[in-house]
Amino acid sequence: MKHVPRIGVLTSGGDAPGLNAVIRAVVKTADSRGYEVLGIQDGFEGLIGEPHYRILTTADVSGLLPMGGTILHTTNKGHFSGPRVPGTPNDPYEEAFNNITKLNLKGLITIGGEGTQAIAMELSKMGAPIIGVPKTIDNDLPGTDRTFGFDTALQVATDAIDRLHTTAASHNRIMVVEVMGRHAGWIALHSGIAGGADVILIPEIPFDIEKIAASINERYTEGHSFCIVVVAEGASPKGGHAFYIASGRLGGIGHTITEQLGQLTGKDARCVVLGHLQRGGGPTPYDRILATRYGAAAVNAIHDGITAEMVALRAQDITTVPLEEATGHIKTVRPHSDLIRTARGLGIIFGD
Ligand code: F6P
Repeated sequence: MKHVPRIGVLTSGGDAPGLNAVIRAVVKTADSRGYEVLGIQDGFEGLIGEPHYRILTTADVSGLLPMGGTILHTTNKGHFSGPRVPGTPNDPYEEAFNNITKLNLKGLITIGGEGTQAIAMELSKMGAPIIGVPKTIDNDLPGTDRTFGFDTALQVATDAIDRLHTTAASHNRIMVVEVMGRHAGWIALHSGIAGGADVILIPEIPFDIEKIAASINERYTEGHSFCIVVVAEGASPKGGHAFYIASGRLGGIGHTITEQLGQLTGKDARCVVLGHLQRGGGPTPYDRILATRYGAAAVNAIHDGITAEMVALRAQDITTVPLEEATGHIKTVRPHSDLIRTARGLGIIFGD
């Protein structure tokens, strides 16, 4: 019987719109290049113990392009949450590596954010043939201009801000919208500008609540009757720290500043936390295309014998970058970037 070379694919970390579009592109491109695809279930957890996978055919990926979530399911780090300590009993990395070898994969495509690519890099140092695909709604992965999922989250957040304008205006209210993004302000900054927000608070620019309240009061004096505040979940006050709802889970800042702004301005204030709505549902056309390009490029990279790299968008082109470039730190908003300058020029308040 003819030996068919195999490619593995897994999705890891928080889900993001476009995961299924990547899987579809991987399977279709692999099929046309003569590879069989193994879909590893539940992220890296599927490589612990008896490997948990299924063969994916082109029929299995039919209809996946517009579908949110991931048919392979995902896990947030799981057994891989701590840094690797080689030689420890039950080393999950050793187990995963042995399974990758046992499955005889020519390449393993790891679709995920910074945490995922850090695990992938560790496995690749052990000799596993890895190609990363950059995913996260937060857009905070270094090494690439864009992660897929971001455009969809941006669309959801912008749509919410648009809708909040009419209710804020009708009631002369301050409306605070808390958006995701971890320790980067990309979603808040982009949706705030796209949605015409009056105040944008991001982790990269610590804020002073009294200054924000004074600026809002000024707005009302000038004749404005409402105010839209977009706050990134990872934003923090000057000299303070980020807000957590549970260990490692950012959140809660929206409600706190809503209460503070209500008290400091004497205006009616309400808070909306968008949460996982930003990750749910189908991808935008931009994310479908980006995810498709990434999936195809990952298979092509494996076919070309490339390993320990991540596919990445640089300007107009998809290229590959060393996995090291995508790990160890996150890509944040530069406080002096042209986008911030543009926003300030429009009168948007950052509270600094
Ligand atoms: O990284 C994506 C993201 O949605 C962040 O914006 C958010 O902080 C985090 O994941 C929430 O993760 P979960 O609720 O899945 O633990």
